[in-house]
Amino acid sequence: MPKESREEFSLRKFVPKEEQRKTFAKVFDKGTIEAVHSLSTKGHFDVLEHVVSTGKEAHVFRARDQAGNSRAVKIYKIKASDFNRMQRYLEGDIRFKQVRKNKQDIVFAWTKKEFKNLLLMNKAGIRCPMPIAFQKNVLVMEFIADAKGNAAPQLKEAKPRDLKKAYETIVGFLARLLYNAGLVYADFSEYNILNKDEELVLIDAGQAVLTTHPESEAFFERDVRNVARYFSKQGLEKSPGEMKGDNKAEKGKI
Ligand SMILES: Nc1ncnc2c1ncn2[C@@H]1O[C@H](COP(=O)(O)OP(=O)(O)O)[C@@H](O)[C@H]1O
Ligand SMILES: [Mg+2]
Repeated sequence: MPKESREEFSLRKFVPKEEQRKTFAKVFDKGTIEAVHSLSTKGHFDVLEHVVSTGKEAHVFRARDQAGNSRAVKIYKIKASDFNRMQRYLEGDIRFKQVRKNKQDIVFAWTKKEFKNLLLMNKAGIRCPMPIAFQKNVLVMEFIADAKGNAAPQLKEAKPRDLKKAYETIVGFLARLLYNAGLVYADFSEYNILNKDEELVLIDAGQAVLTTHPESEAFFERDVRNVARYFSKQGLEKSPGEMKGDNKAEKGKI
């Protein structure tokens, strides 16, 4: 029998099924496997259960820790990521402005940025996944589940029952981001909000920037336009101007 490689040995710990292990080993590089293994050894999760999403830039898995809690493990792809876009959001943010020479370091910084943004967002009272740990291009966080334990659907697929309430929640998110966290989310859309049995949860925070970012105002304007467009399409007419007014009015309440 051929000798088991170090990666195969590591993989065995967090991907128990052989078939899945083969796929995992094909998709991810050695460094990623080491990072996932290390996070699992530290107890942040025990096993990866299944893939929840394979997007352009990241894979998201549902995992479970030893106590039985569900976890989301988001693994950024190093080769397929859009580095130029990532650099634009990193360089203007004083937390991440140091120069990075290679693609790998950009993706690692992005992962750390998502972790830090989620922490700030949690502290600011925004409903979002609680970040648990990160290493290299791997982020472990709270898993946002529906009543059956599956990943909660995106707002795109699960229209809120009460549109007015959903609008107020999202205006509240925008206001808390800006006034409590000093952040601009910079990618608001019906794809990045999960509808957890009518509770809205904001996810995917890698791109969010500090308000001191030179483009933060333009990002904010774009967020407002996207949210206003979404609600207007659903039948709750909102202009960006009206929404900005509602956002300012929220400041006094938070
Ligand atoms: N914490 C989480 N809990 C449950 N599902 C999640 C979580 N994070 C991401 N997902 C699922 O993975 C999908 C993609 O995640 P996202 O963070 O938006 O990555 P990207 O858009 O970069 O691929 C989400 O739409 C959702 O279905
Ligand atoms: Mg997304």
